[in-house]
Amino acid sequence: MFFDDEEYGGEDDRLVKSTKGEYDVEENVLRPKSLSDYVGQVKVKENLNVYMAAAKKRGEALEHVLLYGAPGLGKTTLAHIIANEMGGQLKLTSAPAIERSGDLAAILTNLNDGDVLFIDEIHRLNHSVEEILYSAMEDYALDIIVGKGPSARNIRFSLKKFTLIGATTKAGMIATPLRNRFGIICRLEMYTPAELKEIVLKSAAKLGIEIDDSAAAEISKRSRGTPRIANRLLKRVRDFSQIRGEGSVTIEDARYALGRMEIDDLGLDETDRAILRAMIEKFDGKPVGLETLAATVNEDANTIEDVYEPYLLQMGFIARTPRGRVILRGGYEHLGYKITERQASQLSVFDKDDND
Ligand SMILES: Nc1ncnc2c1ncn2[C@@H]1O[C@H](COP(=O)(O)OP(=O)(O)O)[C@@H](O)[C@H]1O
Ligand SMILES: [Mg+2]
Repeated sequence: MFFDDEEYGGEDDRLVKSTKGEYDVEENVLRPKSLSDYVGQVKVKENLNVYMAAAKKRGEALEHVLLYGAPGLGKTTLAHIIANEMGGQLKLTSAPAIERSGDLAAILTNLNDGDVLFIDEIHRLNHSVEEILYSAMEDYALDIIVGKGPSARNIRFSLKKFTLIGATTKAGMIATPLRNRFGIICRLEMYTPAELKEIVLKSAAKLGIEIDDSAAAEISKRSRGTPRIANRLLKRVRDFSQIRGEGSVTIEDARYALGRMEIDDLGLDETDRAILRAMIEKFDGKPVGLETLAATVNEDANTIEDVYEPYLLQMGFIARTPRGRVILRGGYEHLGYKITERQASQLSVFDKDDND
């Protein structure tokens, strides 16, 4: 619901999309084009600036980059920016789209010096594809076995000096040999409300939306630390505002629209609240496994883990423990539940247990 990466897949089954000549959907319009335009992520930006400048000075390709962080935090955007700043072409693909090692070989042999290959969801590469990547990343070489049985032989092709950018929401699921081949590893953090407000104001300007400062602040507070959500809410608030009247988007417009979308003061939507409610009512504050929780609220376990959980963890509403997910005091309070004695005794266990 909140995320729809429509960059690949759908009717278009090309494996790789080039940025050249690609039709700009609205998300692309909103993408910052340079690092100076990319809000927040200060440490990541500072480091990348150094690495990119140094690589340029040496006349080399930038080392391979692994970007990790929740959906909508700006991984794809950063890949566009890196390709831009390094003067290479960006080729976008995603791990699930690369089914056979031959698919990847075809992509790799088409890259030129300085090009950037972006592989989204890189934790989902299958094993034979991943093995091709090892020598490609390390030696810019492609080892291909030609023929079968006793007559099979290994042929090595050399590749151009490209940069691989891998993106993932699950850094822990990347095999160590692959992870070790990335020279640069960046973790994207959630954005502060102030940063999100800056993004909302910039996006409004790009879309020609007039918006009051207080309305932008309201949207950013309810965007779960995520630029993609901030942009989406901005557009929906604009819709409601347009129907209600004309002129600048006001804070009343923002509150009304967000209320209609059932997004509460802290940005939680109906699914977030269903998760918390289930943990309180169905599981009585006891630890619950991800799959069980997912089944209870009728959501996909992956979606819960990638989309919902990060923000609930960040807000301190839930915690991950070795025995499962548990709801914390803040979670009860946000939904206005009184904590029963039994639940309180659960809480005291996890207050002590969970200090990570
Ligand atoms: N640092 C940022 N500054 C401004 N806008 C951003 C930033 N990060 C992301 N965005 C906006 O959020 C949207 C989603 O970002 P994206 O790079 O597609 O996220 P991811 O690939 O991590 O899921 C983009 O359209 C972009 O406009
Ligand atoms: Mg993306």
